[in-house]
Amino acid sequence: MRIAISTGGGDAPGLNAVIRAAVLSAINRGWDVLGIKRGYAGLLGEDEVVPLTRESVRGIAHLGGTILRTTNRGNPFHYPILQKDGTYEEIDRSGELIERARQLGIDAIISIGGDGSLAIAQKLVEKGMRIVCVPKTIDNDVSGTITTFGFDTAVNTAMEAIDKLHTTAESHDRVIVMEVMGRHAGFIALHAGVAGTADVILIPEIPYDIQRVAEKIRARDKAGRHFSIVVVAEGAIPLGGAESRLGASLPGQAKRVGGLAEKIASEIQEITGKETRSLILGHLQRGGPPTGYDRLLATRFGGAAVRAIAAEEWGKMVALQSPHIVTIPIAEALKETKRVELSHDLVATARATAISFGD
Ligand code: F6P
Repeated sequence: MRIAISTGGGDAPGLNAVIRAAVLSAINRGWDVLGIKRGYAGLLGEDEVVPLTRESVRGIAHLGGTILRTTNRGNPFHYPILQKDGTYEEIDRSGELIERARQLGIDAIISIGGDGSLAIAQKLVEKGMRIVCVPKTIDNDVSGTITTFGFDTAVNTAMEAIDKLHTTAESHDRVIVMEVMGRHAGFIALHAGVAGTADVILIPEIPYDIQRVAEKIRARDKAGRHFSIVVVAEGAIPLGGAESRLGASLPGQAKRVGGLAEKIASEIQEITGKETRSLILGHLQRGGPPTGYDRLLATRFGGAAVRAIAAEEWGKMVALQSPHIVTIPIAEALKETKRVELSHDLVATARATAISFGD
C-alpha cells in the first residue's frame, strides 16, 4: 500500500501533527508514504513529491505551518496559467493529476484542508480517486465536525491580544477595535471575545448597528468604565450593508474578506467623541505552535485518516463528534458552511454578561 498526503489552503496550527500521526500510523502498517508538496502542485510538475519517513516527521508535532507547504491557488480543476499577454486562463488539470498519481503508484490520498480542499477532493473522488479528508481551518466553519484543529490556537492568540489591549486601552481611556479572522463565520471573534471579556463582539451572523455599539460605549463611560474593547470578525456586516473586502487578489485566489476595524473605529470616534484605535490581528492567528488541544485533535485526525483508508472509506472526512472521531461523507461536510448558532449558550451567556453584539 502506498499513500500520499497533501496539505491545501491556508495553513493552520496542527497540520504537522496530523502529518506526523498519519505517517507513523501508516508506516506501522507497513505502508509507504509520500508527501505531495504545495497542495497538489507536486503532482502537477510544479513542485516535488517526496518520501515521508519516520525521520521526516521527527520533532514536528509542536511546529506551526506545514512541512509539505501549502497554497490556496492550486485548484487542479481551475489551474491558473499565465498567458503571453500577461492575463491568466484557468484550465482543468485534474486528468493530468490523476495520471501522475497512477504513475507514482499512489493507492490513496489523505487530503488535509478546508472547504476549498474538500470540494476539490470530492470532485477527484467522483473521477475515481481514492481520497480520505481531514478538515482543517482556524475558522472552525466546516460542517459535520464539532471543531477543526487550529481553531483553539487562533482563539488563544486572539484572547492574549485582547488581554494586552485591555491594559493600554484602560490607561488611555480609549476604545480599541480589534479585527480577527474567520471569513463568513464568527467563531474566533465570539470565543476569543468572551474569553478575553470584550465589551462588544461583532460577528457575521448578527448584523450590527453602529449606533447600538456607540450606545454600549457611552453606557460604560457613564458607569465610570472609560475604555472599551470591540472585537470584530472580519466578515461582520452592518445592518442593511455588505461584507468588507480587501484589495485585488492574485489569479486563482478568492477575494479576501476584511479591512473593517478601521472603518468601525472611525465611526465610533465620530459618534462618541472618544479616542479610538484599531488593529487587524491578521496572520498571527495562523502561526505559532498548536495548543495542546489542537495537537491532540490533529493527532487523532491523522490516526483516524489512516484507519479510514484501511477500511476503504473513500470520499469520507474524519470528524470530531465528541467524544468520538467518526467519518462522514465529504459531500455532507460541504452542504453548508458552519456558522455560529444564535441559540448557542455562548451567545446567551455573552449577552447575560453584558457583552453587546451591536444589535
Ligand atoms: O480561512 C482561513 C483564513 O485565515 C481566513 O480566516 C482569512 O479570511 C483567510 O484565510 C486569509 O487568507 P490569506 O492567507 O490568503 O490572506
